[in-house]
Amino acid sequence: MNMYQENILEHSRNPSNYGVLDKFTHSVFDSNPLCGDEVSIQLLVDSGIIKKVAFSSVGCVISRAGSSIITEFVIGKSVDDIKKMSKEDMLGILNVELSASRIKCALLGFVALKKSLWGVSDVAD
Ligand code: FES
Repeated sequence: MNMYQENILEHSRNPSNYGVLDKFTHSVFDSNPLCGDEVSIQLLVDSGIIKKVAFSSVGCVISRAGSSIITEFVIGKSVDDIKKMSKEDMLGILNVELSASRIKCALLGFVALKKSLWGVSDVAD
């Protein structure tokens, strides 16, 4: 197992920003239609900057790790910058080889987070 795979496992075992925010400005619930796994995300945005984020999920190792990693990544970033991120950007952050079905898992939290910022998805399935 390489260090990137170990990083995925560690994020799945001990996800960052796991839970629910008391106060938030954006929230979303989303699921992977292929398997039914679910993620909920809340964000607290102030002056265009993502100050806090939390997620909870019922899902596989990759989806939980992906959600953990993207929530770590977005804290302190501007909403405008995160809105510009592509799926390829997210997969670059994960930096592990994934099959097509696993890519859907890895993007679950990312797609949900973007939906919360746009109000609708700008990320094609
Ligand atoms: Fe459902 Fe991965 S198997 S999100």
